[in-house]
Amino acid sequence: MHRIELAGLEVNAPAVEHIPVLAETLSEQINLPPDGVMVDATIGHGGHSFLFGSKLGPEGVIVGLDVDKESIRRAQFVLKNLACKVILLHSNFSQTSEQVHKQGIEEVDFILADLGVCSAQLTDSEMGLSFKTDMPLDMRIDKRLKTTAADIVNKTDEKSLADLIYKFGQDRASRRIARFIVQHRWNRPITTTGQLAAIVCKALGRPSQKRKARIHPATRTFQALRIAVNNELENLEKLLHSAPQLLNKNGRIAVISFHSLEDRLVKSDFKRNEKESIYRIITKKPIVPTQEEITRNRRARSAKLRIAQKQ
Ligand SMILES: C[S@@+](CC[C@H](N)C(=O)[O-])C[C@H]1O[C@@H](n2cnc3c(N)ncnc32)[C@H](O)[C@@H]1O
Repeated sequence: MHRIELAGLEVNAPAVEHIPVLAETLSEQINLPPDGVMVDATIGHGGHSFLFGSKLGPEGVIVGLDVDKESIRRAQFVLKNLACKVILLHSNFSQTSEQVHKQGIEEVDFILADLGVCSAQLTDSEMGLSFKTDMPLDMRIDKRLKTTAADIVNKTDEKSLADLIYKFGQDRASRRIARFIVQHRWNRPITTTGQLAAIVCKALGRPSQKRKARIHPATRTFQALRIAVNNELENLEKLLHSAPQLLNKNGRIAVISFHSLEDRLVKSDFKRNEKESIYRIITKKPIVPTQEEITRNRRARSAKLRIAQKQ
């Protein structure tokens, strides 16, 4: 087991198989007192929480939420030796306020949301998120949800499917992609990520130089379906809405987003709250990873961090 250094702390490499994004910057921006209380709305493998938790004493508390049971299990392992109290809850962050209050905690010093998925979830065939490997077309991060990506792809009418790919994937070829999907499913249902990726590639034909250089042709369609299956934007809106009441004076909220739809929501929420003198925005422009971090951790390449402080 080799050890690596993260934001000045040495940790075991398997424990951070998912490398926390912008960890160093966050450590610089968020100073928790030893008895600080934080909510990690997306506990994942506990990477970020481990860094903050290492600075908390026995009076400190971390409340960690995740919709994926496997993430909770991994976080439990990573955080088990921290001095502070760790409460891990299998819950959607749209319920953050209720869940925190249920623990007898009224206000917190810090809320962190590191959106998206962990590296391990991308390769987990039960998640069905990857177009790089053929897996069942599922995409439910929370297995309690009823609708899978295959349900959407096989049952939605062509226009609604095109609208969904356009709205959540921002793919200008959405109509063509939807048409190809509908034509294909006429013969047999689309049940795997490989099948869907191949159909999208066929719909888009030869990628343009610009598209080829940047992303896989199916990236936007997969993003759209993942957002729809997991109600990602709605959940984020609920979290942002509940945050001001949950933060104590001078408490901070930090959100790391991975696509412009999420970032736009965070940006406008912070701005609205600043206008109403509820927040002071700490990051006038979003903080992005350095080239060195991106080289070390490719998943960081589209990350944007925004921080606000309750007034
Ligand atoms: C990028 S990972 C977090 C990684 C974590 N910061 C770390 O350092 O290990 C995002 C996590 O959020 C979880 N997640 C996604 N949507 C969620 C939601 N609405 N509520 C709670 N957890 C969610 C995913 O299951 C995943 O484990």
